[in-house]
Amino acid sequence: MRIVLLGPPGAGKGTLAGLIKDSLDIEHISTGDIFRDEMKHHTALGAEMKKYVERGELVPDEVVTKIVENKLKNPIFEKGYMLDGFPRTSKQAKDLDEILNRMSTPIDFALYMEADLELIVQRLTGRRVCRKCGAVYHVQNRPAKVEGVCDVCGGELYQRADDNEETIRKRMEVYYQSTTPIVEYYRSQNKLRQVDGNKDSAELCKDVLKMLDEKQRHKN
Ligand code: AP5
Repeated sequence: MRIVLLGPPGAGKGTLAGLIKDSLDIEHISTGDIFRDEMKHHTALGAEMKKYVERGELVPDEVVTKIVENKLKNPIFEKGYMLDGFPRTSKQAKDLDEILNRMSTPIDFALYMEADLELIVQRLTGRRVCRKCGAVYHVQNRPAKVEGVCDVCGGELYQRADDNEETIRKRMEVYYQSTTPIVEYYRSQNKLRQVDGNKDSAELCKDVLKMLDEKQRHKN
């Protein structure tokens, strides 16, 4: 199964992907995680991206699309994947379709998660991420057992540089301007499936698995 995860910053795309990837036996590809990894390792690409990511602006389409295209050539993704954070503009969505049509592996569903703005700000300002393994926590909603320490690998938890109120506002603005048109793009292809991102993650996870199971059964 090949799924695109759509939704504003903080809707819970990464959290949901982490919860359902094993049940669906597919991979999770997050363009945000790819960029943060490049920045962490101080690569030339990372240095180039840092200026966009830390301002809450989009990295240029051609750079992101090339990275995703190269990644998708890896046989590990043949079993399926969730694309989280890509596509993010109409150009990226169209280019992705072209790439996947050439590979004869089109997207099956675009899962659209909406969440209220107040909740988004609360989620993003309280988010903490493990420096080592990338596991995602929240100081109130999903606290680590020991403050500042990852439950999974013992790594240090940190706050993303773009999770401050000013950059969150910018990211939301960019989202409404550049990303929301993609919702209609997938709706017109009859691939859009909407879920309520305001829900608690366990409940949401159950809803999504049930929905995907039903849709998959109808396709077969
Ligand atoms: P990216 O990393 O993709 O950031 P984002 O889209 O802003 O998404 P987030 O990671 O902030 O949100 P999420 O929905 O995954 O939330 P999460 O599950 O962590 O991109 C970062 C930057 O990279 C961009 O600004 C841009 O510069 C660049 N970039 C990336 N892709 C690009 C592209 N294609 N083109 C151009 N530039 C690109 O949850 C958030 C918090 O809420 C967590 O603490 C979590 O514990 C909590 N939480 C989640 N779900 C729930 C729930 N249901 N109930 C309670 N708490 C919850």
